[in-house]
Amino acid sequence: MRKGIILLFMICLCFPCLKAQEIGITIDTQKSLGNINPYVYGQFIEYMGKCIDGGIYDENPAVSDERGFRKDVLEKAKELAPTMLRFPGGTVVKTFHWEDGVGPKDKRKAKKNLIWGGINPYHFGTCEFIEYCRELKCEPVLVVNISTGTPDEAANWVEYCNGTGDTYYANLRRSHGYPEPFNVKYWALGNEEAAEPDAGRHQDPHQYVKDMWHFIKLMKLTDPTIELIANGESNNLEWTKVALKGLDGAVDYIAYHAYVSTDAGRPYSIFKKIRRSENGLNNYAKLIKETVPDEVKDWKKWYRFPHRTKPVKIALDEWGIWEHQEPPYGTTNTYEWRHGLATACFLNVIQRCAEHIGMANWAQMVNILSPIRTNESTSVRQTVFFPLKEYRARALGESVSADVTSILVDKDLPAIDVSATIDREKKLMTLFIVNISPKELKGRIEILNGQVDKLLDMVVLSSTSIDAKNVLSEPQKNVVLTNHKSVNRKVQELKFQGESITICQFKLK
Ligand code: AHR
Repeated sequence: MRKGIILLFMICLCFPCLKAQEIGITIDTQKSLGNINPYVYGQFIEYMGKCIDGGIYDENPAVSDERGFRKDVLEKAKELAPTMLRFPGGTVVKTFHWEDGVGPKDKRKAKKNLIWGGINPYHFGTCEFIEYCRELKCEPVLVVNISTGTPDEAANWVEYCNGTGDTYYANLRRSHGYPEPFNVKYWALGNEEAAEPDAGRHQDPHQYVKDMWHFIKLMKLTDPTIELIANGESNNLEWTKVALKGLDGAVDYIAYHAYVSTDAGRPYSIFKKIRRSENGLNNYAKLIKETVPDEVKDWKKWYRFPHRTKPVKIALDEWGIWEHQEPPYGTTNTYEWRHGLATACFLNVIQRCAEHIGMANWAQMVNILSPIRTNESTSVRQTVFFPLKEYRARALGESVSADVTSILVDKDLPAIDVSATIDREKKLMTLFIVNISPKELKGRIEILNGQVDKLLDMVVLSSTSIDAKNVLSEPQKNVVLTNHKSVNRKVQELKFQGESITICQFKLK
């Protein structure tokens, strides 16, 4: 027997080979996939449809608190507990001028939302966003308008948020009732600027680099402690490479956006696309490695701000499921339980790519491609809400390798998808197992370079059927069942219910 190999569960091992319905999972505790950045469990809100106005913000006192925060939505958002919140877009940043959304609400400039339609009164602006982040105890990320905004305007926004001196913009914030700085650390330099159909003005990456240096200089000279996210193009590695190389030393993250959908008549296609996203993220990480050094050594710029000191990470600052259903732009999506399983598989990808990802934001939190949906009086948790909540609550700090042997549900698509996380100090290991097949599968889990003491607890998310959904017309009904079992003993057998997500926490010896 190989040294260091402990066979934890051997189910049906009277048979030397796996029966058709069985699976094998091998965890190697010494094969680290990197520390999981806490910011990978983030969310995103944009001035789009009813995400902000009519979603998280509503001035009707029957549903909201004195700040205009919808109480039912805030309660659900707190349950989701995002670690990070991105604002205000998305594509809408191309027309966003932050000064429209600060100060007394009756003096703010209502403007047409030229990107997504409707009128934006900007009653939810920078200060309301920061208050919302404080309520959620999460880190804010602000996205700067680099299209129709100017470097000065961006730097003034930094000063408004973070300034501590006796300056016009720090004083403006104080005059709005916020004596203490907001200390916004993460700032993104535009959004999908290369995308021509999306009003991007930087199809030429060299132009992006040239223009961004002005923004970077002024923003970083205003607050040298901020960290910057450059745009990247997941579908155009050449663009990304030029941007990354040209901005090296000054940016800390490069953005990657990934939306998946289902092809008509091919229900498993969404799961295959999620697997392809994993390749996409790994290729992106390879590109970063090949293009810029982990550490910047020859920082020759004379600017008086510090250069990057850590490797550039991916900011997966928009990810989610876009089934092109109802307006605006097909983003009002009703998710089935199948989408809940897909969300868990995507979270497994994020956890397996831990080494490369510095932050990730589900797009978006309310009403647009969202876990939370509202109408005027009520709200529901969509199916995708539950995996987002449980992964965020249960993942441990480090990702380790998990190999799977499984039956296939479709050509090339294994029924089981797994990610494994550990806390070496506390000697804990948490596994996330998604069974996308309709059959119950029995599992054998093998631990390499470690030993399990016992199974502490198990959470199983399942549903009445694969196409079940939570809808606003029946707000009390919940089609997602969360079964939490405290086990606290050695276990001889693990079974994974058909079309379910199982999260098991083990104590290691
Ligand atoms: O999340 C919806 C939109 O999708 C965002 O505004 C844009 O960045 C992306 O294309």
